[in-house]
Amino acid sequence: MHSMTNARPRLTVNGLHKQFLLHGQGGLEIDVMHDLSLTLQAGECLVLAGRSGIGKSTLLKMLYGDYRIDQGRIRLHFDDGDLDLETLPTYAWHGLRRDVIGYVSQFLRVVPRVAAVDVVMEPLLARGADEADSRQRAETLLARLNLPERLWRLPPGTFSGGEQQRVNIARGFIGEHPLLLLDEPTASLDAANRDVVIALIGEAKARGTAMLGIFHDEDVRERVADRLLPLDGNQGGLSNASQHYRESLS
Ligand SMILES: Nc1ncnc2c1ncn2[C@@H]1O[C@H](COP(=O)(O)OP(=O)(O)OP(=O)(O)O)[C@@H](O)[C@H]1O
Ligand SMILES: [Mg+2]
Repeated sequence: MHSMTNARPRLTVNGLHKQFLLHGQGGLEIDVMHDLSLTLQAGECLVLAGRSGIGKSTLLKMLYGDYRIDQGRIRLHFDDGDLDLETLPTYAWHGLRRDVIGYVSQFLRVVPRVAAVDVVMEPLLARGADEADSRQRAETLLARLNLPERLWRLPPGTFSGGEQQRVNIARGFIGEHPLLLLDEPTASLDAANRDVVIALIGEAKARGTAMLGIFHDEDVRERVADRLLPLDGNQGGLSNASQHYRESLS
């Protein structure tokens, strides 16, 4: 696994389907994704577009192993070989998330009593990095994101939405994973902090990070997207409704 972190993955998704079975609704099936395919190059930011509820976050969760891959193929390409995520054993996901796939979720998952700076540096410690170096890098990122220093030693539970999101962003970017999934990372930020995130994305691109992102803000999208992947399909998404996804150049 470790040799993979230095490699440049290229992601290929083929024929991906996703259905949710709603047990509480008499077994109603929601067909969220139908035959989705995409490719993602190293150093590229592909932005998912489409209306609310179309399945953008669902796709990121499937790539991160939060949602099961029912049908289709998700393949990561490395210099030393390929990795198929749909057949990846459960135990291998931990290492994959630690070393290869980073994720900035829409909201920070707050752990009680863990200070903001510790939340941010944790992905580095998980790899066995030096604690002082990790703390330094976490503080540097929090400072860049204008999180007031008096908050660094406090648990983020009582932070504002934008403050929590900046902790979340710092935690997501600190690991410099070769594949980064971004779910509306700028949604609750002011203009100055949006610019910082755009700069972080630019720096990640420069070091070859492949990114798949969701950005509602039109301006942010235009500044970070190398390509746009419009997700379109039937409204409602009820049983048997198929939704077609097409990759296009922006
Ligand atoms: N775990 C789940 N169980 C059942 N239905 C789900 C689940 N996760 C998502 N869905 C449904 O799948 C559809 C797609 O949801 P998703 O969160 O991917 O949308 P989205 O495109 O990210 O929307 P938004 O722009 O509002 O964030 C929605 O109809 C949602 O209700
Ligand atoms: Mg979403």
